Amino acid sequence: MTALEIIKRYTEEDENSNLSCGGNIMFLDLHPGEKVLDLGCGRGAETLQAATLVGGDGFVWGLDITPKMLERAQEHADQVLFKNVDFLLASMDKIPLKDASLDAVLSNCAINHVQDKMAVYREIHRLLKTGGRFVVSDIMTDAPLPPEVKQDPEAVAACFGGAITIQEYEEILVAAGFDRIEIFKERRYVKNGYEMISRTFHGEKS
Ligand SMILES: C[S@@+](CC[C@H](N)C(=O)[O-])C[C@H]1O[C@@H](n2cnc3c(N)ncnc32)[C@H](O)[C@@H]1O
Repeated sequence: MTALEIIKRYTEEDENSNLSCGGNIMFLDLHPGEKVLDLGCGRGAETLQAATLVGGDGFVWGLDITPKMLERAQEHADQVLFKNVDFLLASMDKIPLKDASLDAVLSNCAINHVQDKMAVYREIHRLLKTGGRFVVSDIMTDAPLPPEVKQDPEAVAACFGGAITIQEYEEILVAAGFDRIEIFKERRYVKNGYEMISRTFHGEKS
């Protein structure tokens, strides 16, 4: 049910053309030749930036659950004739790539949509090579959101109902195998009367 709401929202969002999230790619410090995954890539703006940074010897996958978003992303990739990019239609809690195949994972404003965030971070850990890193921007809270908000598919699709607390989030990162987390930036704001935190952070697979 929630996945359908999300796909519906982002399909409509595409028609309204007002999707925009803050970038975090500069924190990833990408190098030529690296293999990168952009989780919840949307229209692929950062996927293509990553492809520019890793160059022809590198490769970038953009993964998203909404077909319309990936259509747009592929159109943009075709316009710039990039050959080192591919787009995967899949859910980020079950990623069709091989173990230890990536140098870096990027995700911008997308993991909050997924109910099983532990599964997402286990997938990130599985896919990264030793020494590989991720940079994620995501939404969280200090206090738990009320159950009726968490269970409201529209609130989850609107980038706030799926938020968990900072404490829960940090426990998931540790349980998935990431122990040294560095926070790059944090912003607080109010959405539908709830205080939300947008945090950009880095982790490494040791
Ligand atoms: C707020 S948009 C962010 C898009 C892009 N990262 C950006 O910064 O512009 C969230 C994206 O996550 C995708 N998404 C939501 N749930 C997902 C899931 N379970 N697996 C993969 N992508 C998902 C949505 O389809 C949407 O394109």
